[in-house]
Amino acid sequence: MKKIIVSAPGKLMLLGEHAVVYNKPCLVTAVDQRLRLTIEVLNIQEFQLDAPDVDTVNYKKQIVGIGKGNIPKGAKFVEFAIKNFLDRTPLTPFIRGIKITTKSEFSSRFGFGSSSASVVCVIKAMSELFNLNLSPKEIFDLSYKTVLDVQGAGSGFDVAAAVYGGTNYFIKGGKTIEPLTINQLPLIVGYSGVKADTVTLMSEVKEKANKYPKIIEGIYSSIEELVEFAKVKLLANDLRSFGELMNINQGYLNALGVSNNKLADMIYASRIAGAYGAKLSGAGGGDCIIAIAPEEKRISVEKAIQQAGGEVIKVKTNAKGVKIE
Ligand code: PMV
Repeated sequence: MKKIIVSAPGKLMLLGEHAVVYNKPCLVTAVDQRLRLTIEVLNIQEFQLDAPDVDTVNYKKQIVGIGKGNIPKGAKFVEFAIKNFLDRTPLTPFIRGIKITTKSEFSSRFGFGSSSASVVCVIKAMSELFNLNLSPKEIFDLSYKTVLDVQGAGSGFDVAAAVYGGTNYFIKGGKTIEPLTINQLPLIVGYSGVKADTVTLMSEVKEKANKYPKIIEGIYSSIEELVEFAKVKLLANDLRSFGELMNINQGYLNALGVSNNKLADMIYASRIAGAYGAKLSGAGGGDCIIAIAPEEKRISVEKAIQQAGGEVIKVKTNAKGVKIE
Protein backbone atom coordinates (compact mmCIF):
# COMPACT_ATOMS: atom_id res chain seq x y z
CA MET A 1 0.00 0.00 0.00
CA LYS A 2 1.45 3.34 -1.03
CA LYS A 3 2.43 5.61 1.85
CA ILE A 4 3.85 9.14 1.77
CA ILE A 5 5.21 11.18 4.66
CA VAL A 6 5.51 14.95 4.46
CA SER A 7 6.34 17.61 7.02
CA ALA A 8 5.87 21.37 7.26
CA PRO A 9 7.26 23.91 9.72
CA GLY A 10 5.40 26.01 12.25
CA LYS A 11 5.64 29.79 12.07
CA LEU A 12 6.10 32.91 14.11
CA MET A 13 4.93 36.34 13.06
CA LEU A 14 7.86 38.73 13.46
CA LEU A 15 6.09 42.00 12.63
CA GLY A 16 2.88 43.25 11.04
CA GLU A 17 0.07 41.05 12.40
CA HIS A 18 -3.49 42.37 12.02
CA ALA A 19 -2.39 45.12 9.60
CA VAL A 20 -1.52 42.29 7.17
CA VAL A 21 -5.21 41.34 7.04
CA TYR A 22 -5.76 44.83 5.56
CA ASN A 23 -3.19 44.47 2.80
CA LYS A 24 -0.17 45.79 4.66
CA PRO A 25 3.04 43.73 4.59
CA CYS A 26 4.31 41.52 7.40
CA LEU A 27 7.48 39.57 8.21
CA VAL A 28 7.10 35.89 9.10
CA THR A 29 9.63 33.19 9.90
CA ALA A 30 9.28 29.40 9.77
CA VAL A 31 10.37 27.57 12.93
CA ASP A 32 12.08 24.21 13.21
CA GLN A 33 9.22 22.53 15.07
CA ARG A 34 7.36 20.60 12.39
CA LEU A 35 4.04 18.91 11.78
CA ARG A 36 4.31 15.47 10.14
CA LEU A 37 1.60 13.93 8.04
CA THR A 38 1.34 10.41 6.65
CA ILE A 39 -0.99 9.58 3.79
CA GLU A 40 -1.92 6.02 2.87
CA VAL A 41 -4.03 4.75 -0.01
CA LEU A 42 -7.11 2.72 0.95
CA ASN A 43 -8.97 0.26 -1.27
CA ILE A 44 -12.32 1.34 0.16
CA GLN A 45 -14.05 4.64 -0.62
CA GLU A 46 -13.33 6.20 2.72
CA PHE A 47 -11.51 9.15 4.23
CA GLN A 48 -9.92 8.27 7.55
CA LEU A 49 -8.12 10.60 9.93
CA ASP A 50 -6.03 10.15 13.04
CA ALA A 51 -4.94 13.49 14.51
CA PRO A 52 -4.49 12.79 18.23
CA ASP A 53 -2.91 16.23 18.85
CA VAL A 54 -6.28 17.81 18.07
CA ASP A 55 -8.33 15.07 19.78
CA THR A 56 -9.36 13.36 16.57
CA VAL A 57 -8.88 9.59 16.59
CA ASN A 58 -10.37 7.01 14.25
CA TYR A 59 -12.44 9.58 12.32
CA LYS A 60 -14.03 7.98 9.25
CA LYS A 61 -16.22 9.24 6.46
CA GLN A 62 -17.46 8.11 3.06
CA ILE A 63 -15.58 9.89 0.27
CA VAL A 64 -18.87 11.28 -1.10
CA GLY A 65 -19.55 12.95 2.26
CA ILE A 66 -16.27 14.86 2.45
CA GLY A 67 -16.83 18.51 3.38
CA LYS A 68 -20.48 17.83 4.25
CA GLY A 69 -22.42 17.42 7.48
CA ASN A 70 -21.17 18.03 10.96
CA ILE A 71 -17.38 18.08 10.92
CA PRO A 72 -15.58 18.02 14.28
CA LYS A 73 -13.20 20.92 14.89
CA GLY A 74 -10.09 18.73 14.87
CA ALA A 75 -10.91 17.33 11.41
CA LYS A 76 -12.03 20.51 9.63
CA PHE A 77 -8.79 21.78 8.12
CA VAL A 78 -7.63 18.40 6.85
CA GLU A 79 -11.08 17.44 5.53
CA PHE A 80 -11.52 20.72 3.63
CA ALA A 81 -8.00 20.41 2.24
CA ILE A 82 -8.91 16.96 0.87
CA LYS A 83 -12.20 18.33 -0.47
CA ASN A 84 -10.51 21.22 -2.29
CA PHE A 85 -7.89 18.90 -3.73
CA LEU A 86 -10.48 16.36 -4.92
CA ASP A 87 -12.58 19.14 -6.48
CA ARG A 88 -9.52 19.82 -8.59
CA THR A 89 -8.29 16.25 -9.12
CA PRO A 90 -10.78 13.40 -8.53
CA LEU A 91 -9.84 10.03 -7.07
CA THR A 92 -8.92 7.23 -9.48
CA PRO A 93 -9.74 3.48 -9.46
CA PHE A 94 -6.25 3.01 -8.00
CA ILE A 95 -6.72 5.55 -5.23
CA ARG A 96 -10.21 4.81 -3.90
CA GLY A 97 -9.78 6.19 -0.43
CA ILE A 98 -7.18 7.76 1.83
CA LYS A 99 -6.05 7.57 5.38
CA ILE A 100 -4.26 10.51 6.99
CA THR A 101 -2.33 10.59 10.23
CA THR A 102 -0.86 13.78 11.68
CA LYS A 103 1.64 14.25 14.49
CA SER A 104 3.02 17.55 15.63
CA GLU A 105 6.35 18.29 17.34
CA PHE A 106 4.72 21.32 18.90
CA SER A 107 1.50 21.76 20.81
CA SER A 108 -1.43 23.08 18.79
CA ARG A 109 -1.91 25.50 21.73
CA PHE A 110 1.23 27.53 20.98
CA GLY A 111 -0.20 29.31 17.96
CA PHE A 112 2.60 28.03 15.71
CA GLY A 113 0.09 27.47 12.92
CA SER A 114 -0.55 23.74 13.17
CA SER A 115 -3.84 24.02 11.24
CA SER A 116 -2.22 25.72 8.26
CA ALA A 117 0.77 23.37 8.41
CA SER A 118 -1.59 20.38 8.28
CA VAL A 119 -3.44 21.83 5.27
CA VAL A 120 -0.17 22.44 3.42
CA CYS A 121 0.99 18.89 4.23
CA VAL A 122 -2.26 17.44 2.86
CA ILE A 123 -1.96 19.33 -0.43
CA LYS A 124 1.73 18.47 -0.82
CA ALA A 125 1.11 14.77 -0.02
CA MET A 126 -1.87 14.55 -2.40
CA SER A 127 0.16 16.28 -5.13
CA GLU A 128 2.85 13.63 -4.66
CA LEU A 129 0.33 10.78 -4.51
CA PHE A 130 -1.26 11.87 -7.78
CA ASN A 131 2.13 12.69 -9.39
CA LEU A 132 0.99 16.25 -10.05
CA ASN A 133 4.16 17.99 -8.97
CA LEU A 134 2.23 21.12 -7.92
CA SER A 135 4.42 24.22 -7.68
CA PRO A 136 4.85 25.96 -4.32
CA LYS A 137 2.49 28.74 -5.51
CA GLU A 138 -0.16 26.18 -6.51
CA ILE A 139 0.20 24.52 -3.09
CA PHE A 140 -0.06 27.94 -1.45
CA ASP A 141 -3.20 28.90 -3.41
CA LEU A 142 -5.09 25.68 -2.70
CA SER A 143 -4.04 25.74 0.96
CA TYR A 144 -4.98 29.40 1.41
CA LYS A 145 -8.40 28.76 -0.14
CA THR A 146 -8.85 25.92 2.36
CA VAL A 147 -7.94 28.12 5.34
CA LEU A 148 -10.42 30.77 4.15
CA ASP A 149 -13.13 28.11 3.67
CA VAL A 150 -12.73 26.96 7.27
CA GLN A 151 -11.84 30.19 9.03
CA GLY A 152 -13.52 32.84 6.90
CA ALA A 153 -10.66 35.35 7.13
CA GLY A 154 -6.88 35.55 7.35
CA SER A 155 -3.89 36.78 5.41
CA GLY A 156 -2.29 33.40 4.61
CA PHE A 157 1.07 34.33 6.20
CA ASP A 158 1.08 31.03 8.11
CA VAL A 159 0.41 29.10 4.89
CA ALA A 160 3.34 30.89 3.23
CA ALA A 161 5.66 29.95 6.10
CA ALA A 162 4.58 26.30 5.88
CA VAL A 163 5.03 26.15 2.09
CA TYR A 164 8.17 28.19 1.54
CA GLY A 165 9.95 28.08 4.91
CA GLY A 166 12.68 30.64 5.66
CA THR A 167 11.81 34.20 6.56
CA ASN A 168 9.49 36.06 4.23
CA TYR A 169 8.20 39.52 3.53
CA PHE A 170 4.56 38.71 2.84
CA ILE A 171 1.45 40.46 1.53
CA LYS A 172 -2.06 39.02 1.95
CA GLY A 173 -3.12 36.14 -0.27
CA GLY A 174 0.46 35.67 -1.48
CA LYS A 175 0.42 38.87 -3.59
CA THR A 176 4.07 39.14 -2.53
CA ILE A 177 6.10 36.35 -0.97
CA GLU A 178 9.67 37.58 -0.86
CA PRO A 179 12.24 35.33 0.79
CA LEU A 180 14.76 37.26 2.88
CA THR A 181 18.29 35.93 2.98
CA ILE A 182 19.17 36.46 6.61
CA ASN A 183 21.04 34.76 9.44
CA GLN A 184 19.43 32.62 12.10
CA LEU A 185 17.62 35.08 14.41
CA PRO A 186 18.44 35.13 18.13
CA LEU A 187 14.79 34.74 18.95
CA ILE A 188 13.43 33.87 22.39
CA VAL A 189 9.86 32.63 22.58
CA GLY A 190 7.66 32.83 25.66
CA TYR A 191 4.35 30.97 25.77
CA SER A 192 1.61 32.62 27.82
CA GLY A 193 -0.23 29.41 28.64
CA VAL A 194 -3.38 30.76 27.03
CA LYS A 195 -4.68 29.75 23.61
CA ALA A 196 -5.45 32.75 21.41
CA ASP A 197 -8.70 32.84 19.49
CA THR A 198 -7.53 34.31 16.21
CA VAL A 199 -10.95 34.65 14.57
CA THR A 200 -12.47 36.48 17.56
CA LEU A 201 -9.49 38.82 17.86
CA MET A 202 -9.64 39.64 14.15
CA SER A 203 -13.31 40.53 14.45
CA GLU A 204 -12.69 42.67 17.55
CA VAL A 205 -10.06 44.63 15.64
CA LYS A 206 -12.49 44.98 12.74
CA GLU A 207 -15.14 46.38 15.08
CA LYS A 208 -12.63 48.89 16.38
CA ALA A 209 -11.79 49.90 12.81
CA ASN A 210 -15.50 50.39 12.05
CA LYS A 211 -15.85 52.65 15.06
CA TYR A 212 -12.60 54.63 14.59
CA PRO A 213 -11.76 54.17 10.91
CA LYS A 214 -9.26 57.01 10.52
CA ILE A 215 -7.38 56.17 13.71
CA ILE A 216 -7.10 52.47 13.00
CA GLU A 217 -6.17 53.01 9.36
CA GLY A 218 -3.45 55.35 10.63
CA ILE A 219 -2.17 52.55 12.85
CA TYR A 220 -2.14 50.09 9.94
CA SER A 221 -0.17 52.57 7.82
CA SER A 222 2.33 53.14 10.62
CA ILE A 223 2.75 49.37 10.96
CA GLU A 224 3.32 49.19 7.21
CA GLU A 225 6.09 51.79 7.46
CA LEU A 226 7.78 50.07 10.34
CA VAL A 227 7.67 46.71 8.54
CA GLU A 228 9.33 48.24 5.46
CA PHE A 229 11.97 49.80 7.66
CA ALA A 230 12.46 46.61 9.67
CA LYS A 231 12.97 44.58 6.49
CA VAL A 232 15.92 46.81 5.55
CA LYS A 233 17.33 46.56 9.07
CA LEU A 234 16.96 42.80 9.09
CA LEU A 235 18.75 42.42 5.76
CA ALA A 236 21.55 44.59 7.17
CA ASN A 237 21.63 42.39 10.31
CA ASP A 238 20.94 45.47 12.45
CA LEU A 239 19.13 43.60 15.20
CA ARG A 240 19.20 46.47 17.65
CA SER A 241 17.09 48.62 15.31
CA PHE A 242 14.94 45.62 14.45
CA GLY A 243 14.26 45.18 18.17
CA GLU A 244 13.32 48.83 18.56
CA LEU A 245 10.84 48.45 15.72
CA MET A 246 9.40 45.37 17.45
CA ASN A 247 8.79 47.55 20.51
CA ILE A 248 7.05 50.17 18.39
CA ASN A 249 4.93 47.47 16.77
CA GLN A 250 3.95 46.20 20.22
CA GLY A 251 2.75 49.73 21.06
CA TYR A 252 0.44 49.68 18.05
CA LEU A 253 -0.83 46.18 18.88
CA ASN A 254 -1.59 47.43 22.35
CA ALA A 255 -3.53 50.32 20.79
CA LEU A 256 -5.49 47.80 18.70
CA GLY A 257 -6.48 46.13 21.97
CA VAL A 258 -4.96 42.71 21.39
CA SER A 259 -2.28 42.67 24.12
CA ASN A 260 -3.01 41.69 27.71
CA ASN A 261 -1.36 41.68 31.14
CA LYS A 262 0.29 38.30 30.79
CA LEU A 263 1.81 39.16 27.43
CA ALA A 264 2.83 42.63 28.64
CA ASP A 265 4.51 41.15 31.75
CA MET A 266 6.63 38.81 29.63
CA ILE A 267 7.40 41.58 27.13
CA TYR A 268 8.52 44.13 29.73
CA ALA A 269 10.46 41.48 31.66
CA SER A 270 12.34 40.56 28.44
CA ARG A 271 13.20 44.17 27.70
CA ILE A 272 14.40 44.82 31.25
CA ALA A 273 16.54 41.68 31.05
CA GLY A 274 18.36 43.07 28.03
CA ALA A 275 16.37 42.17 24.92
CA TYR A 276 16.67 44.62 22.02
CA GLY A 277 12.94 44.29 21.57
CA ALA A 278 9.92 42.18 22.46
CA LYS A 279 6.34 41.93 21.27
CA LEU A 280 3.43 39.56 21.05
CA SER A 281 3.41 37.32 17.99
CA GLY A 282 0.20 36.48 16.12
CA ALA A 283 -3.34 37.45 16.94
CA GLY A 284 -2.64 38.40 20.58
CA GLY A 285 -4.83 37.67 23.59
CA GLY A 286 -2.56 34.70 24.40
CA ASP A 287 -0.18 32.38 22.52
CA CYS A 288 3.41 33.62 22.47
CA ILE A 289 5.66 36.62 22.79
CA ILE A 290 8.95 36.88 20.92
CA ALA A 291 12.07 38.72 22.02
CA ILE A 292 15.29 39.43 20.15
CA ALA A 293 18.34 39.62 22.34
CA PRO A 294 22.10 39.56 21.99
CA GLU A 295 23.37 36.03 22.66
CA GLU A 296 24.97 37.03 25.99
CA LYS A 297 21.56 38.13 27.30
CA ARG A 298 19.66 35.02 26.21
CA ILE A 299 19.74 33.26 29.57
CA SER A 300 18.65 36.34 31.54
CA VAL A 301 15.80 37.02 29.09
CA GLU A 302 14.67 33.38 29.34
CA LYS A 303 14.72 33.58 33.13
CA ALA A 304 12.80 36.85 33.06
CA ILE A 305 10.09 35.27 30.88
CA GLN A 306 9.80 32.35 33.31
CA GLN A 307 9.62 34.69 36.30
CA ALA A 308 6.80 36.52 34.53
CA GLY A 309 4.95 33.18 34.39
CA GLY A 310 5.79 32.23 30.81
CA GLU A 311 7.13 29.00 29.36
CA VAL A 312 10.23 29.32 27.17
CA ILE A 313 10.00 27.42 23.91
CA LYS A 314 13.23 26.72 22.07
CA VAL A 315 12.99 27.30 18.34
CA LYS A 316 15.28 27.97 15.43
CA THR A 317 14.13 30.36 12.72
CA ASN A 318 14.38 30.06 8.90
CA ALA A 319 13.26 26.41 8.91
CA LYS A 320 12.74 24.52 5.63
CA GLY A 321 9.33 24.66 3.99
CA VAL A 322 7.08 21.65 3.30
CA LYS A 323 9.01 18.59 2.18
CA ILE A 324 8.71 14.88 1.53
CA GLU A 325 10.37 12.96 4.35
O1 PMV B 1 -3.04 33.86 15.70
P1 PMV B 1 -2.10 33.60 14.59
O2 PMV B 1 -0.75 33.17 15.07
O3 PMV B 1 -2.65 32.68 13.58
O4 PMV B 1 -1.83 34.99 13.88
C1 PMV B 1 -2.87 35.78 13.37
C2 PMV B 1 -2.33 36.95 12.63
C3 PMV B 1 -3.39 37.86 12.04
O5 PMV B 1 -2.69 38.88 11.31
C4 PMV B 1 -4.21 38.52 13.12
C5 PMV B 1 -4.31 37.11 11.10
C6 PMV B 1 -3.71 36.71 9.78
O6 PMV B 1 -4.21 35.75 9.18
O7 PMV B 1 -2.76 37.37 9.30
